[in-house]
Amino acid sequence: MKILGIDTSCDETAAAVVLDGCEILSNIVASQIKTHQEYGGIVPELASRKHIEAINYIVNKSLAEAEVTFDDLDAIAVTNRPGLIGALLVGVAAAKSLAYAHNLPLLGINHIEGHIYANYMVHDNLSFPHICLTVSGGHTLLVEVYEGWKYKVLGTTQDDAAGEVFDKVAKYMGLGFPGGKIIDELAQKGDPTVIDFPRPMIQSGDYQFSFSGVKTSVRYFVEKAEQAGSIEKGEISIEDIAASFQAAVVDVLVTKTIHAAKSSESKAITLTGGVAANSLLRTSLKSAAEEIGAEVYYPPINLCTDNGAMIAGIAYEKYQQGLRDELSLNAAANGSIVDV
Ligand code: KG4
Ligand code: ZN
Repeated sequence: MKILGIDTSCDETAAAVVLDGCEILSNIVASQIKTHQEYGGIVPELASRKHIEAINYIVNKSLAEAEVTFDDLDAIAVTNRPGLIGALLVGVAAAKSLAYAHNLPLLGINHIEGHIYANYMVHDNLSFPHICLTVSGGHTLLVEVYEGWKYKVLGTTQDDAAGEVFDKVAKYMGLGFPGGKIIDELAQKGDPTVIDFPRPMIQSGDYQFSFSGVKTSVRYFVEKAEQAGSIEKGEISIEDIAASFQAAVVDVLVTKTIHAAKSSESKAITLTGGVAANSLLRTSLKSAAEEIGAEVYYPPINLCTDNGAMIAGIAYEKYQQGLRDELSLNAAANGSIVDV
């Protein structure tokens, strides 16, 4: 069964064709990073406009690369929640028009479920239940994933998402946007023990996260260092600040994820979302998991970040479960995944 998956939830226009949930025939992503870079963050109105310009081209390219036409498709799936509302509406309008024009079933998909599914597309030995940490620019979510794609939400962020904090801290440090990759690279040359940034809620015993405290702490630290000229004088390096900040965020993410795995019968942990590309997060989680006899899985980077393949993938499972949406399908800015 071939499904076209469309995602326009944030700043990537994405379309993919996937066979039977896991075989990726094409996966096309048009990034808008250059458009948003000069503003130091995503400008929602610009994102919507760029999606409108790109959507038809990207959908056609995904069909061409998969060597299929609309006649070969069995369904069209689209992210309809959560995300930037104007951006989501572009993908939803496109999917509805195409489903109507080609008389194909339509499925509205939760973006987070797509991220969670991404690991399953490349690791066919993944066991259930497993613990999944989704960390991206918009989300920080710890869930237990059961057979049949049912979920128990363990915790989420009370304020900023993990990726958002990387991006904001990079902005305070004048490093550019998006900041995650830049901080990751700088941190590899720095000493994470130089500054003891706070690890909010690390001892709370639950699975909730809060990152605004560490963000503010870095901001004050950088402002003070600039005023004192201590960076120019070589008393403190931006590499050490980056490494110390990254260590604080990763410490919290790893501690809570391991705590969840220990409290579950699960022996598998999956990592997904843009921040899953972080090198310290990958290595720290892997070694902490080894200590409790758990295995960590992550997908390749192009399936960690936003893409249409993960949407087509989870849509295949939802189709088998009977999901079909009407042409009245709407987009929603919010939309948490539903607990079992
Ligand atoms: O999943 P994604 O592409 O888009 C959203 O759904 O948000 O994630 C983008 C986020 C950005 O905040 C970016 O800074 C972060 O992922 N990111 C990283 C790294 N690479 C990307 N954060 C930390 N370390 C990285 N290596
Ligand atoms: Zn995402």
